[in-house]
Amino acid sequence: MKPKIFVTRPIPSAVLDHLAARCELQVHPEDAALKPGPLGEACREVEGLLAVGVRVNQEVLSQASKLRVVANCGVGYDNIDVAACTARRIVVTNTPGVLTDTTADLAFALLMAAARRVVECDRFVREGRWKRWEFGMLWGADVHHKTLGIYGFGRIGQAMARRGMGFGMRILYHSRRRAPEDLEREIGAKFVDRETLLRESDFLSLHVPMTPETHHAIGAREIGLMKPTAFLINTARGKVVDEEALVAALEAKKIAGAGLDVFEHEPHLHPKLAGLTNVVLIPHVASATGETRLKMAMLAAENLLAALDGQRPPNLVNPEACS
Ligand code: 8YV
Repeated sequence: MKPKIFVTRPIPSAVLDHLAARCELQVHPEDAALKPGPLGEACREVEGLLAVGVRVNQEVLSQASKLRVVANCGVGYDNIDVAACTARRIVVTNTPGVLTDTTADLAFALLMAAARRVVECDRFVREGRWKRWEFGMLWGADVHHKTLGIYGFGRIGQAMARRGMGFGMRILYHSRRRAPEDLEREIGAKFVDRETLLRESDFLSLHVPMTPETHHAIGAREIGLMKPTAFLINTARGKVVDEEALVAALEAKKIAGAGLDVFEHEPHLHPKLAGLTNVVLIPHVASATGETRLKMAMLAAENLLAALDGQRPPNLVNPEACS
């Protein structure tokens, strides 16, 4: 008998066909997050869950007594209660690697957009405010040869650093673990302590995972150490930054600007953010390209199928669940 699985949103048909060949498939028809109650209800009979943009918590798990694997479609898995899954011997997987360059591309796009005021310029032209060319019009900040600070030097942080190299930037980084020397040399990245990173970066780009340790890692104190000319770029997780403190700093021009893909209470925006011109706001789309979304969904499916087959999935998050 084919195992029953549940897919929480419509995903590309090539992936659904691949899954349907080996599983009995149910797909939530709407591209919207199911709340834990209805998600748990949908998981009552399933052995596998392909989780796309949903929270998998105790409430879900308590209803899903047959569940053996949660395959998250995303590299970050702070939406999954991994400890609760492990306690129930449910395998959890994620999708690292396939979205690295796509996410770094967008982080760099945010950096450029914030520094050169691309969104403000676009609005200026569209709204018919461009009456004449002025020498002093819409000045931004240079990117090339500035200092790029990377906070979190995993795959995406390193990919961001490589983009900075192309712009002749000086690269500083801080991470839980220092990278091997040959990698540092290849990228031209220098390991510094957190305080030096905050003080010396012209652009501070966040690439840490969301964990209890990184919650509000960038707050009023940290922002206070940044240069008044610096920009903060966040494509990691909204809760890494104390949004209230960031808004206050942007309002008071304590830093020059920010580029944000992620927010503390997505999709709800801090009431003052939309009114600020020195911040570029985009809706958590760092991995959103056709090519990458397909790769993410396919990798999540491969992980799911491997785990259902009793094999070690390629991107296992909780090996303890298999021991
Ligand atoms: C996803 C992400 O869009 O991979 C991640 O960690 O933030 C995004 O690529 C998100 O997780 C929804 O599945």
